[in-house]
Amino acid sequence: MKKHLVVLTGAGVSAESGFATFRDTGGLWEQYDVNDVASIEGWYRNRSLVLDFYNQRRAQLKDAKPNAAHEAIAGLESTYNVDVITQNVDNLHERAGSTRVLHLHGELTKMRPENGVYDKTGSEAEVIDVAYRPIMLGDLAPNGSQLRPHIVFFGEAVPKIEKAIDLVEKADILLIVGSSLQVYPAAGLYRYAPSGCPIYVIDPKPVPLSDPRVHFIQDVATKGMAAFIEQLKAL
Ligand code: APR
Repeated sequence: MKKHLVVLTGAGVSAESGFATFRDTGGLWEQYDVNDVASIEGWYRNRSLVLDFYNQRRAQLKDAKPNAAHEAIAGLESTYNVDVITQNVDNLHERAGSTRVLHLHGELTKMRPENGVYDKTGSEAEVIDVAYRPIMLGDLAPNGSQLRPHIVFFGEAVPKIEKAIDLVEKADILLIVGSSLQVYPAAGLYRYAPSGCPIYVIDPKPVPLSDPRVHFIQDVATKGMAAFIEQLKAL
């Protein structure tokens, strides 16, 4: 019976694929006002600005590649029962071969009607995969309303958090890679790990986690994953 490894990732796991993180020096939230491009108020204030922000990130994703950290996480599926819970909206975990990826904050390659069933029921029936193409103001969903990013904006609920909690509660090992753990509810997920579950954290900077179960690997994701895999052998 394979042990259950749950991997919570943030923007740092995609940094070595060329993506800026949000809160590092030069990060996205230094270049853009998060309230303008990633909040529900910002969407209603200026849809074109938000569509353009995500069009730019979608275009970058088209030419990006998974890095060795994404690949190492996918590779662990041969030895562990792996669930990836990612705060990232990129598809690099999937492109590296991970087969079970839960996107807490949505997906860059998907859009949905701004007035649709998702907000009321959580049903993804109206979600459309647009791959890497730009979506403009006036690009309407089949139901006639404007297409919007299938992204959880600040000010919106995180419908998949219950499923994420359920996964963490069943973890034998929890690994956190590349998150500053500043955005809730994702940042509080580690608290649901069983008392005997070791928590490994990979980050080049210290992360605010004071928990006796934490083993901190202070490195970038690609090197940290190699060290983590070595430490797994001792488990
Ligand atoms: N390898 C691993 N970690 C890295 C690397 C790297 N090469 N480079 C930076 N990091 C770390 C940073 O030290 C930081 O702890 O990645 C983390 C990135 O933190 P944030 O920029 O805050 O990103 P994240 O934690 O994913 O943000 C959570 O905030 O804006 C919202 O919805 C957005 O999902 C995002 C959420």
